[in-house]
Amino acid sequence: MRVVLKFALLLSLWCTVRCCDDVLEDHLATKSPYRFVGNRNHSRLSFAGCEPSKAWMLIRHGTRYPSDDYVSAMQSRLPVMREIILSKENGIFRSDRDSLRKWKLDFGEEDAKKLTAEGANEMVEIAERMQSRLPEIFSHIYSNTSYNFKFTSTQRTKASAYYFAKGLFGKPTAKDVHFPEPLKQDPILRFYKLCNKWRKEVKHNPKAVKEATTFKAGPMVKKELTRIAKKLGVHEKNLSFDDAHYMYMTCAFETAWSRKKKSPWCAPFDVNSAKVFEYAEDLKYYWVDGYGHDITYKQACPAFGDMLGHLGDTTSPYPKATLYFTHSGTLLKMLSHLGLYRDERPLRHDNYDEHRLWRSSRIDAFATNIAFVSYKCGNEISLLALHQEHVVRLPSCPDSDLCPLSKVRSYYEESLNSCSFDDMCNNTNSNN
Ligand SMILES: *[C@@H]1O[C@H](CO)[C@@H](O)[C@H](O)[C@H]1NC(C)=O
Ligand SMILES: *[C@@H]1O[C@H](CO)[C@@H](O)[C@H](O)[C@H]1NC(C)=O
Ligand SMILES: *[C@@H]1O[C@H](CO)[C@@H](O)[C@H](O)[C@H]1NC(C)=O
Ligand SMILES: *[C@@H]1O[C@H](CO)[C@@H](O)[C@H](O)[C@H]1NC(C)=O
Repeated sequence: MRVVLKFALLLSLWCTVRCCDDVLEDHLATKSPYRFVGNRNHSRLSFAGCEPSKAWMLIRHGTRYPSDDYVSAMQSRLPVMREIILSKENGIFRSDRDSLRKWKLDFGEEDAKKLTAEGANEMVEIAERMQSRLPEIFSHIYSNTSYNFKFTSTQRTKASAYYFAKGLFGKPTAKDVHFPEPLKQDPILRFYKLCNKWRKEVKHNPKAVKEATTFKAGPMVKKELTRIAKKLGVHEKNLSFDDAHYMYMTCAFETAWSRKKKSPWCAPFDVNSAKVFEYAEDLKYYWVDGYGHDITYKQACPAFGDMLGHLGDTTSPYPKATLYFTHSGTLLKMLSHLGLYRDERPLRHDNYDEHRLWRSSRIDAFATNIAFVSYKCGNEISLLALHQEHVVRLPSCPDSDLCPLSKVRSYYEESLNSCSFDDMCNNTNSNN
């Protein structure tokens, strides 16, 4: 009996470390909750002969509610889908039918995009672990010379900053933390809002996402739609891509919101269909926020420069921690600027089967974060990079965790020396 128990324990431990099964929950794209990707090992991050000195973090807000157009689509389409599904005898199995019958959307348009309770938990927990890894930097005593918090002008990043502070200092102090008034257009936290070329040629250009559009209209998606329709017991002509996509997104959001409750909207999907919907999302983000177009990641140089400005400055030990609460668009462009998760071949509508590094479920979950930590090693400063709290190696130092500042500076020379944002973005004086 004890042996069996021990074995079960070991197995479950092994599964949480390196998960054995490929599961649906691992393919929810940018609406994945952080608990599936974050590193929960909060041991001290120490390197022989080196002392941690400062940190700079870029943090996507935690799990949020959908946007208002999504909320209204969910309110109008999901009950219709439910009627259709429940009217079919041979649809999805019984327990799911019951929870589908009882399902309701228990928030409204007024909650659109707001941080959820799970989003708050995510922030508290990341803060606690960062403090435990690097107590020299993330002191539990607050001072506004040590800490530099910033967020964008949105409720979800503001609330994320507050809960992060709560994780570091506790509730009474978190209320007194100095947060500067957010800028409407922040050139570091949300640089892309100021980049005309990117907005015109990528963000608002349907051609920029043609790979995703082609994929969505293609045979892989059609095959999955047919399978899903069959599972639901409806005719395939009565299942549009949009309706299937609302169900997939609701499955993702509801999985993110609650650690315990299972969303009935996940029932129509299995790993294979979730992977196909995930790929449609990955394609979109690759071409809008990732490697698809040069301007997308080149324009992240002001944020990269801000990081090196803080960590490379040896004239002052303050601020110890610079913490920026922002959005998926910033995190993805920064990852691409750094050269992380770069696939040899661009993602296209017809290379779904190739192994890829660019997986939004892993690299762009809610609360996604990149941290740079500077260490003083003798007379030299080295940087450690963390993504989702896991150590990642920068392309400037593929063979070591710590990367000397000199190497970072020479590898990213172009970013540091040729960062003329307004030129690359074709911003004219009139619309600056
Ligand atoms: C946790 O992280 C520490 C420091 O990085 C490492 O030495 C240790 O092996 C890790 N523990 C586990 C269980 O992975
Ligand atoms: C510290 O907080 C005060 C207000 O309490 C503010 O005026 C000052 O600018 C802050 N200093 C820094 C470095 O943020
Ligand atoms: C689609 O659904 C409508 C009503 O919801 C029904 O009248 C129609 O017959 C269905 N079409 C197919 C092809 O199942
Ligand atoms: C740059 O902006 C100007 C004026 O807005 C426009 O005429 C021109 O075509 C743009 N150039 C590029 C390369 O986008």
